[in-house]
Amino acid sequence: MKNLKNLKVLISPERLEERVKELAEMIKKDYGHKVFCSVVLTGAMVFFTNLMKELKKINVEVIYDPIKVSSYSGTESTGKVNLELDMKQDIKNKRVLIVEDIIDTGLTLKYLKEYMLRKGAAEVKICSLLDKKARRKEPIEADYVGFEIPDKFIVGYGVDYNERFRDLNFIGYFSEE
Ligand code: IMP
Ligand code: MG
Repeated sequence: MKNLKNLKVLISPERLEERVKELAEMIKKDYGHKVFCSVVLTGAMVFFTNLMKELKKINVEVIYDPIKVSSYSGTESTGKVNLELDMKQDIKNKRVLIVEDIIDTGLTLKYLKEYMLRKGAAEVKICSLLDKKARRKEPIEADYVGFEIPDKFIVGYGVDYNERFRDLNFIGYFSEE
């Protein structure tokens, strides 16, 4: 059962905050004072907002544009990626940093990376808060990873189970699946 009672903390709010700061420093080193981010809705919203605040503190300007895709139903990837909301800004000849909550099979990010390169982006890099390496089906890696996590279904910090648990300030997993 997926309910709050059997939810355990995997990554605390303090560790999340600290790691987001470190990611911001890494991004600044590579991008300088301006970065264009493509935020993958809906799961990456909380992560992205915090990352942007940290980037702002160290004088990096963030321009962003959301994109929405879906591939999940409950806890299962359907194996097919649907584009639900497209970007509005022109990314031709731009360096794009995709900000995502989690890489699991890699299907979503492979799709997004190819899609943006087709639209003429000069470069596409990936920043993912979480990485479930054990589940990868596509040979794709993020350029910036917050945490490598075990093969557990996680929620919180923007990430949902059927639209619930996004509002938690930590990353959690269910002790009984
Ligand atoms: P992929 O295409 O299999 O790499 O899946 C990526 C997407 O699946 C992520 O953007 C998440 O939205 C969702 N996802 C993958 N693992 C989890 C999880 O453990 N909890 C909630 N959503 C997940
Ligand atoms: Mg996602």
